[in-house]
Amino acid sequence: MDTYEVALEKSKKLEADILKNPKKHRVLTGDRPTGKLHIGHYFGSLQNRVKLSKLGVPTCILIADYQVLTDHDAFDKISQNTKQLVIDYIAAGIEPSEDVIIFPHSYIPEANQLMLPFLTLVSNAELSRNPTVKEEIQAAGLKSVNAGMYTYPIHQACDILFCKGDVVPVGKDQLPHLEMTRNIARRFNEKFAKNNPIFPEPIALLSKTPSIAGLDGTQKMSKSRNNAIYLSSTEDETANLIKKAKTDSTRIITFDPENRPEVANLLSLISLCTNEEPEVIADRIGDGGAGLLKRTLIEALNEELRPLRIRRLELEKAPDYIDSVLRSGVKSAREMAVVTLDEVRRAMNMEI
Ligand code: TRP
Repeated sequence: MDTYEVALEKSKKLEADILKNPKKHRVLTGDRPTGKLHIGHYFGSLQNRVKLSKLGVPTCILIADYQVLTDHDAFDKISQNTKQLVIDYIAAGIEPSEDVIIFPHSYIPEANQLMLPFLTLVSNAELSRNPTVKEEIQAAGLKSVNAGMYTYPIHQACDILFCKGDVVPVGKDQLPHLEMTRNIARRFNEKFAKNNPIFPEPIALLSKTPSIAGLDGTQKMSKSRNNAIYLSSTEDETANLIKKAKTDSTRIITFDPENRPEVANLLSLISLCTNEEPEVIADRIGDGGAGLLKRTLIEALNEELRPLRIRRLELEKAPDYIDSVLRSGVKSAREMAVVTLDEVRRAMNMEI
């Protein structure tokens, strides 16, 4: 597998080419429908997706409603969570159009059908080596592991390759899956489509935002750790959560991620809202202490999210519009999947 440095190099080259030729590329990215998005998603990936789609790169946003079954028992909320994701995306600035689509992968049978030939291109050993899958098995505390857990990286290759996505904006944890997708694309082309390769080898576009810690200051922000601020939280809820955030007992505020991770995390969040360097913000707060630090963050974050939250409330009242976005997303995605599956059949000599 590529080292992180090599992946970062590829990501930078790709970014430069996207700026020059946005239409030559296709972004495919996805989320599991586990609930509403929080500010970690917003700063870490959502802003980047909005930027790419506004540059004119055709963008497919996939909701991984099958993949979510691999480590979540609760299927009773999948449909509701899917719709909440759509609301979060649009409120954050994604504008659905012919070139920017949102759809659940369970609705694209021709994409799912790629799973069968793809399964034959990967060994069991490769599947059980995947470090992200191993971590997820541990984190979910699964005693017996369902086969979907081991094979979902192959399914993720179907997600990316059915529409020939070549740009996949993801975090570091998804690199093993991208490597798997690249292997499958290459192996398929070599084995079945030597003279006329069908699939691109997609590249991860790595986010520049460092991973955002939760309000406890050290762990990644996530729903399951109960340390998140949601895009859908009200301004008062946001204020109450930040007031309870962990800091330390040194009054003077300094930016020192190594020794003062909790304070540094709050400063980084302010910096993401105001575009100032965290050191400059720290200097200004100085001996104002944790109280002033928190008040500054509450104000900056609520201001940053205000327009999004207003749109969010409006979208909550427009379920028909949300449904229509999903329906047209499914239609466009299926059109691409039908074409790809036909090409695959032809390459594999299965036409009748
Ligand atoms: N595995 C991703 C996650 O857990 C979700 C996902 C599913 C995805 N299919 C994808 C991401 C395709 C990028 C491309 O967040």
